[in-house]
Amino acid sequence: MPYRDTFVTLAGLGSALPGRVLTNGDLERMVETSDEWIVERTGIRQRRLAAPHEATSDLALAASRKALSDAGMDPADLDLIIVGTVTPDMPFPSTACLLQDALGARRAAAMDLGAACTGFIYGLAAAEGFLASGRFRTVLVVGAETLSRITDYEDRSTCVLFGDGAGAAVVRRATSAGGGLLSVYLAADGRGAGILRLPAGGSRRPADMETVASRQHFIHMDGREVFRFAVRAMVSAVKESLHRAGLRVSDVDLFIPHQANTRIIDTAVRLLGIPPEKVFHTIETYGNISSASIPVSLDEARRGGRLRPGDTVLLVAFGAGLTYGGAVLRWEAAAARAPAGIPHPCARVPATVRAQRTQTLMEGCDARHENSTR
Ligand code: UT7
Repeated sequence: MPYRDTFVTLAGLGSALPGRVLTNGDLERMVETSDEWIVERTGIRQRRLAAPHEATSDLALAASRKALSDAGMDPADLDLIIVGTVTPDMPFPSTACLLQDALGARRAAAMDLGAACTGFIYGLAAAEGFLASGRFRTVLVVGAETLSRITDYEDRSTCVLFGDGAGAAVVRRATSAGGGLLSVYLAADGRGAGILRLPAGGSRRPADMETVASRQHFIHMDGREVFRFAVRAMVSAVKESLHRAGLRVSDVDLFIPHQANTRIIDTAVRLLGIPPEKVFHTIETYGNISSASIPVSLDEARRGGRLRPGDTVLLVAFGAGLTYGGAVLRWEAAAARAPAGIPHPCARVPATVRAQRTQTLMEGCDARHENSTR
């Protein structure tokens, strides 16, 4: 196969969705809309909303714990935490630092990444770069959002679209060649910054009574323009990501696009010639959760048995910025994704203890893999 020997792999996945469900029926009672319009124009039937006490870092924490457990790793193993989000708990400190503290990942550096709905793919690319530098061995990449906090529930053109949730992946240096991340492609077009934005609350337009009264702290979007951009961006990102991996559309086993609108996905898929049965959807139940949309979908695909060892998976996203990008993964068996037995240069644990722990983890992963393939 023409793909390159890969450097990084996804060792563990996790996701967290808040409990409250907002249905199209609920929205019918809030704005002038209908279940029929929402389903036909977007494909969305319901979305999840955070409870008043839940912030983005809380959802990120729940997803991250699951991803670490899936990878058979401790928070102490993390060298870096990257959180993609447009809904941080607060402008600073970063949500990644809040997550670092909540996890107890004392050794990890931490930073937020602002690439909107493309945040998880930008995060994967950043993780690959840090891992390639040789400085770090394990990076936690998270996409986490509480979009309900910046959604205007008086604006029917946007409030039907968005939901809350988080997804996380433990990204490690690969232990075997040929699996893991085969390619990643990032792009941006800042000329389109105005078509999808949150106008106030930053240095250009600080919060005041007027910005609050004129609802400038909510998402403002030119839906039709975003739609046009989205189709072009998805087609271009798919082609570029596959080209960089030396693969063709027909090599893809599972296509996981950003979940913004079923019509955007269907149009792009038709133009690319991807069979609809290879396309994974979560939009019907979760709506658009921005940076969380891809890691949540990836985790659901894996838990639902749609990701088998050896499968080629194509991720593609677009979002405010405007940003877009894609990544191609070859999904590996649990044992191949497990931590390698090479001690980390910064590890405080003696090498013998660490090797013993790694051995135990490998056995656990083997057992889990055997169970999952029964
Ligand atoms: O993560 C990236 C973020 N955003 C996106 O990806 C969004 C991309 N855009 C879209 O998904 C679509 O443009 C929307 C779903 C936002 C809108 O769908 P559309 O088919 O482009 O509708 P439209 O904006 O062209 O509006 C058509 C009509 C308008 O009425 P008139 O002017 O034709 O009388 C709207 O006022 O639909 C009306 N409309 C609604 N009607 C019922 C807009 N929103 C609603 C609604 N319920 N919720």
